[in-house]
Amino acid sequence: METGLSLPHLLTDAKNRCKMRRVAQFQLRVNGAAHRVTGEAGDSLLSVLRYDLGLTGAKFGCGEGHCGACTVLLGGEAARACVTRLGAVGDRPITTIESLESNGRLHPVQQAFLEAEAFQCGYCTPGLVMATVGLLSMNPDPSADDIARALDRNVCRCGTYPRIVRAIQDAARHMRGAGAGGRQP
Ligand code: FES
Repeated sequence: METGLSLPHLLTDAKNRCKMRRVAQFQLRVNGAAHRVTGEAGDSLLSVLRYDLGLTGAKFGCGEGHCGACTVLLGGEAARACVTRLGAVGDRPITTIESLESNGRLHPVQQAFLEAEAFQCGYCTPGLVMATVGLLSMNPDPSADDIARALDRNVCRCGTYPRIVRAIQDAARHMRGAGAGGRQP
């Protein structure tokens, strides 16, 4: 009986699917390491990070750029990975939350979130931490208003915003105190 599952058939089928998907290779620099990934230019950076590179710290929330759960740094600035297209990344370095801890020590922003208990379910926390790291790299002494403006679109459904603001200001103080020794991603 003809099943249509011969090797040549499967190879042709795979090739046709690749052609239909306009698959190409892309070079990404993620957390300081070079990665070659295969995908479409229109694939979301979030799916590449999570499913191709196994970096699951950035979360899928809304998938539409509204909630911030997927925030990573792209070229040092906070970016929504769910709406960032693979083909638009170029040679900008990508930093994910997996790279913040170093030698068993949390990044000051992570440590401050922990100490201020600035989360409940924790789903939004990686995105908030990355958005904070991006904010503090540009504004080392943000006021509560600065923080509210910068993190306006990072949603915490548990409503821990007062603790988040406190954590960010604690982290900022700590990093200013550490001066040049304050770790940067
Ligand atoms: Fe990317 Fe909501 S999942 S902004």
